[in-house]
Amino acid sequence: MTTVPHCRNQITMKERLLIMCNAASLLFYTTILTIVLTFSLFYYPRINTVQENNQTNIFTPPYTNGGRSCNLFKGQWIPDMRDSLYTNFSCTTIPYRRNCFFHGRKDRDFLHWRWKPEQCELPRFSPKTFLSIVQGKTMAFIGDSLARNQMESLLCLLSTEETPNEVYKDAEERFWTWEFRKHNFTLMVLWSQFLVTATETMFNGSATDGFDLQLDKVDKKWSEKLPFIDYAIFSDFQWFFRQNYLYEGSKLIGCVYCQAPNVTDLGLSFAIKRAFQAAFEQINECKNCKNIFTILRTFSPSHFEKGAWNTGGGCNRTRPVKIEDVIGRDSNWELRTIQVEEIEMARERGEYRGNRFEILDITDIMGMRPDGHPGLYGGNDDWKKGYSDCIHWCLPGPIDMWNELLLEMIKR
Ligand SMILES: *[C@@H]1O[C@H](CO)[C@@H](O)[C@H](O)[C@H]1NC(C)=O
Ligand SMILES: *[C@@H]1O[C@H](CO)[C@@H](O)[C@H](O)[C@H]1NC(C)=O
Ligand SMILES: *[C@@H]1O[C@H](CO)[C@@H](O)[C@H](O)[C@H]1NC(C)=O
Ligand SMILES: *[C@@H]1O[C@H](CO)[C@@H](O)[C@H](O)[C@H]1NC(C)=O
Ligand SMILES: *[C@@H]1O[C@H](CO)[C@@H](O)[C@H](O)[C@H]1NC(C)=O
Ligand SMILES: *[C@@H]1O[C@H](CO)[C@@H](O)[C@H](O)[C@H]1NC(C)=O
Repeated sequence: MTTVPHCRNQITMKERLLIMCNAASLLFYTTILTIVLTFSLFYYPRINTVQENNQTNIFTPPYTNGGRSCNLFKGQWIPDMRDSLYTNFSCTTIPYRRNCFFHGRKDRDFLHWRWKPEQCELPRFSPKTFLSIVQGKTMAFIGDSLARNQMESLLCLLSTEETPNEVYKDAEERFWTWEFRKHNFTLMVLWSQFLVTATETMFNGSATDGFDLQLDKVDKKWSEKLPFIDYAIFSDFQWFFRQNYLYEGSKLIGCVYCQAPNVTDLGLSFAIKRAFQAAFEQINECKNCKNIFTILRTFSPSHFEKGAWNTGGGCNRTRPVKIEDVIGRDSNWELRTIQVEEIEMARERGEYRGNRFEILDITDIMGMRPDGHPGLYGGNDDWKKGYSDCIHWCLPGPIDMWNELLLEMIKR
């Protein structure tokens, strides 16, 4: 059994300083950093608490198709000649780092695939339908940069029907609110890498890569907004792959990847479970909240090939792969299942109050799309040349389909 390479061992101090000296790239760098550990996970002994992968057992709401129920998350990508609903000209809010064509991506075939569930059709995204359903409501994407990636896709899709107004943005674009005034619809993104309270771990007066997580305390930055929220889409993963210390009250109960004397390594799945448990409990116990429609967006796979992000790995494929050719599929599925178990538990506890819990299960679907990432066309020119982004997704691109699934869920 190979040991888990720790991220510190993989990156020399010189490389780290080189990358970290640019403050603007820090956020991006730190997200990418975690992929080293994502990779190491493929060689990590199986997480015992996670059950064996069994696709047929997943929770599947009865999306009906002429009376038949249909699992929207099982199917295949098939060719589609139609163009995307938006382009980098029609949508002016595409962020710099997701605007792959602007940065010179030449191949366009990756835009010409649509998701075909086995037993039904997934309708094309209809901004009109979406906006009519969410009229008078507030929707929040809560999580890290991939949560924002989906919000940015939705923003582009909806702006073909109504131009949104930006009403709030912080300096780092971590908290961002838009209004569709004609439809009285508010769309926001709330940054929270762990969902629970986290502060950077200090060592001898300087910050480390890791965080101190308060597992029994949800992050106020999103939870204080709950009373205004009708739809909450949660997703978080990347930042858990670090050397993090876990607290309950003021007590240190363990860590993840710390290898420190006298501190128990409780494992990645423990930390993720407890954080999501705390978040969903907050929803079920919120007194002054509406009936919140809560959605878990599952693990979004990355696709570094021929190395990790900092050892020459990249993603230059131009078409989807078949499900049996997805690299690391079992590991992806295990990671997905940790969170799915938590939302299923929350549903049992909270559904009688009128709260709804659903799963936007994109893990396998996106595993098949190694062609959808910015790769070398993510505009990271402040980096050492040659580094690829195989974590986030190009706009337009296959990530737009997440919002087609989202629409099917809120339609019912
Ligand atoms: C998954 O579970 C179903 C029903 O429990 C079973 O029939 C099937 O053989 C299982 N599939 C795998 C791949 O384990
Ligand atoms: C849009 O993409 C084209 C390449 O397809 C590129 O030349 C152009 O600069 C991009 N425009 C914007 C506004 O991003
Ligand atoms: C917008 O929606 C909010 C929340 O449902 C409601 O209180 C308000 O009256 C609506 N405003 C208009 C102009 O419809
Ligand atoms: C802590 O920082 C001080 C001052 O910068 C330094 O002299 C000392 O060696 C450091 N200790 C450790 C354990 O790194
Ligand atoms: C670890 O625990 C042992 C026994 O309780 C103690 O003697 C030792 O000082 C501790 N080490 C550290 C680094 O705290
Ligand atoms: C993709 O990258 C590999 C090396 O990582 C290279 O051998 C291959 O030619 C590249 N493919 C394309 C289409 O650029």
